[in-house]
Amino acid sequence: MHKPMPDQGQSSEEVLAQLEAFKEHDPRYKDARAWSLVYYIDEQHAAFVKESYHRYACENGLNPTAFKSLKKLETDIISATADILHGTEDVCGVVTSGGTESCLMAVKTYRDMARDQRRVKKPEMIICETAHVAWFKASEYFGVKIRLVPLLEDLTPDLKKLKKMINRNTVMILGSAPEYPHGTIDPIEAMGEIAQKRSIPLHVDACVGGYILPFMEMNGEPMPPWDYRVQGVTSISADIHKYGYAAKGASTITYRNLDYLRYQMFVYQDWPGGVFASPALLGTRPGGSYAAAWSVLQYFGKSGYRELARDTLLAVNKLKAGINSIPELQVMGSPKGPVFAFRSTSGDVDIFAVGDQMDAQGWQVDRNQFPSGLHAMVTAQHLRVVDQYIADLAQAVETVKANPKLAEQGGAATYGMLAHVPLRQMVKKKVLEMFSEQYKAGGAELDLSAASSVGKGEEKGLVDRLIQWYVGRQTRKNSR
Ligand SMILES: Cc1ncc(COP(=O)(O)O)c(C=O)c1O
Repeated sequence: MHKPMPDQGQSSEEVLAQLEAFKEHDPRYKDARAWSLVYYIDEQHAAFVKESYHRYACENGLNPTAFKSLKKLETDIISATADILHGTEDVCGVVTSGGTESCLMAVKTYRDMARDQRRVKKPEMIICETAHVAWFKASEYFGVKIRLVPLLEDLTPDLKKLKKMINRNTVMILGSAPEYPHGTIDPIEAMGEIAQKRSIPLHVDACVGGYILPFMEMNGEPMPPWDYRVQGVTSISADIHKYGYAAKGASTITYRNLDYLRYQMFVYQDWPGGVFASPALLGTRPGGSYAAAWSVLQYFGKSGYRELARDTLLAVNKLKAGINSIPELQVMGSPKGPVFAFRSTSGDVDIFAVGDQMDAQGWQVDRNQFPSGLHAMVTAQHLRVVDQYIADLAQAVETVKANPKLAEQGGAATYGMLAHVPLRQMVKKKVLEMFSEQYKAGGAELDLSAASSVGKGEEKGLVDRLIQWYVGRQTRKNSR
């Protein structure tokens, strides 16, 4: 049954009160309990971001010749980004709505460039197993086949295999700084050499790292080269709505020069509505996001971001040391930036059961698969909760060790099973069905009560149903 539009309007106070009330079951990011999704400092900063957004909430960046104020904000943002990424005067780019849009644009750009310059009809891109899902989405959207580079033991891509994957259909190579699952910075310098030798564009996905790694380096932290100083790098995506601490809806895609960017642009000259030109995926572009992104860059400047990077790294280092001091746990690979994952080294400790225990303590911990692990995207705000997190984690490990059955219950059973369902296409099909259902107008409200933890409801409800389906299917099969 559709929920109809109200016949009568309500007062703005009533509406705003409802908006606040809806937040009741959302992640507790203000208490530094969440480890992804939100990059929060404090209420003062949030109010500044909201005010900046608010001042341009109605303005539209669709046409750069209309709102010249927005074009100025965009130009300033791209210049500042080029500066911290060590770009030359030739670097150019566009502000997008987020990391995904930036990644999608890179794929469209390089596909069209290869089509135009080399007549490539069956485009392929070479990406690592740890590339963000946005790249898999881009592959589907733009019909660019993926060649997936496997990882070595240290979670870096196997470059020998990468080299062998290059062929005349290769339109781009992707590296990440860092990749999302384990926080590893891919060997961009070596990848740049390969890309340059074969004249193939190399994009660096620095959606996570773009607004923090440069400041870590400015603070004296040793950092492998990954930005425009690496000759083979032709474009970089860097999000301001992550470690730039802007409002949601702000990322950048920059290119080494206009020879690349022009393939991102869309122009249609014969539309009855007029000649139309658009620099990225969106039509109407939200002025508020640009204003908030511009504002945070002016507000923090390099010195402010360096302070945030320092606090973040302090938190990261304390967390890693604390985790590695628990005998049954180990940080995975050699993450350099603000993100890392950890796994269990003991057959007696199921890492997903540890995650359940952490959820029960009010933490919102993300799960990895292949291999199983827990994930942390650390911000400056987490510095104040590091000791509590480590104490709760040590306790969680002890609880799981003392109660092996916990590995067969709750989220541990769900995630463990999900990782082991052999028919991945079936998993995809079923998730697709359930996921789509949630978008029926008025129907299929998210089942928040299905969750044992705050904020994870929708995902757990979904996977629980998937497991029920899978177990049912196996049972039916066995009874045949
Ligand atoms: C490495 C990387 N690239 C791209 C994205 C996509 O960014 P967004 O969620 O802003 O679309 C993410 C998101 O976490 C990411 O970690």
